[in-house]
Amino acid sequence: MPKVLVVGAGGREHAIVRALLRTSAEALDVHAAPGNPGIARDATVHAVAVDDVPGLVALARELPADLVVVGPEVPLVAGLVDALDQAGIRAFGPTAAAARLEGSKAFAKEIMIAAGVPTAGYETVTTVDAGMAAIARYPVVLKYDGLAAGKGVVIAEDEASARATLVDMLEDHQFGDAAVVVEEFLHGEELSLLAVCDGERALPLAPAQDYKRIFEGDQGPNTGGMGSYSPVAGVDAERVAAISAQVHQPVVDELARRGVPFRGVLYAGLMVDGDDVRVLEYNTRFGDPETQAVLPRLRSDLYALMVAAAGDGLAGATLEWDPQWAVTLVLASAGYPASARKGDVIAGLDAVPAATEVTHAGTAVDADGRTVTAGGRVLNVTALGESPAAARQAAYAAAQGITFDGRQLRRDIALRAVERS
Ligand code: AMP
Ligand code: GLY
Repeated sequence: MPKVLVVGAGGREHAIVRALLRTSAEALDVHAAPGNPGIARDATVHAVAVDDVPGLVALARELPADLVVVGPEVPLVAGLVDALDQAGIRAFGPTAAAARLEGSKAFAKEIMIAAGVPTAGYETVTTVDAGMAAIARYPVVLKYDGLAAGKGVVIAEDEASARATLVDMLEDHQFGDAAVVVEEFLHGEELSLLAVCDGERALPLAPAQDYKRIFEGDQGPNTGGMGSYSPVAGVDAERVAAISAQVHQPVVDELARRGVPFRGVLYAGLMVDGDDVRVLEYNTRFGDPETQAVLPRLRSDLYALMVAAAGDGLAGATLEWDPQWAVTLVLASAGYPASARKGDVIAGLDAVPAATEVTHAGTAVDADGRTVTAGGRVLNVTALGESPAAARQAAYAAAQGITFDGRQLRRDIALRAVERS
């Protein structure tokens, strides 16, 4: 029986574990490091941290893993896939050089320009004065040039807040030494389109939308994502292929030209305004919480797909999707995103309807054996339905039964999809 090791501890990794088990033609022995209490119900978990590259390589060797799937960006940027390659262990995910597409906003912009990918006008600056000069031309999104756990992008409403953000990012070194990308503000609607890549080809997944702000009506600070749904009205298979040809394939080609083949998931965060599609960002991994809405709809064999992408290639590969709609809700802890209260006892986990998929994102088991909150995003609830309204209703009905003190839940997830259907 093939052994798969999934690296990560969040809702995305739980959804990957579930999808591997559900879609694989052959029985799989699934392991996770470090996993979480939800993942532990579906796979064997090992206490190795996501940033412990030697520890993860040793675990993969010891199992031995036929495939390692790397969920989060931190181990990708730290070179986990390079280390696994060196050890002769098959890995699904980009090398550190290819993961720079997510690790550096400035590098991503350079690649987009070289590849002819449509994106917002921008300038990369390293001093506050240069930043303020650039702002005169591009009002005004400020992006810290490095990983910042979703907190490195600030939309500055006026000059004073732009200056304060530049001082914060460039002089007070909130995240460490770096540059800032000053970017033109784009209007439109966001779309997440992910593609599985084999170094040469990009095979797009079903489209999704996520909800980044903490409060209803897209108010309040950005989070890692408060909900998602798939598919997206108006983005049929033909449009997916057309957009992918504009935003995925040219980047895969450009990186291959530079001797940096991209294998793994290339996530394009897009702004769509009528026919105009522009890239806001690339991530070099599955999105969270998009994955929790997209993968439950996958009918093709995910294990076979990942093995092909990591090895022999995707020539001739196609993907089958459940035509149903999927809606994912995020239950977040008190204080998120500024902070995350831990230790609140979660009730109702064992009473969720069978057809609902509950994935764990930030949970722990306390000394008394109770499942408690242990992170900002705590749980994800996904339901499928024949219409956006049916999926939404099922997801909210299930989420209602899962409670903990301070629980935050946006009430308007996928409402847009219902209004359009
Ligand atoms: P990013 O990490 O680059 O995707 O940025 C995080 C969020 O900031 C995006 O999902 C958008 O909501 C917003 N954003 C980023 N860049 C722009 C832009 N150029 N114009 C408008 N909104 C943006
Ligand atoms: N949902 C956005 C992300 O995964 O970065």
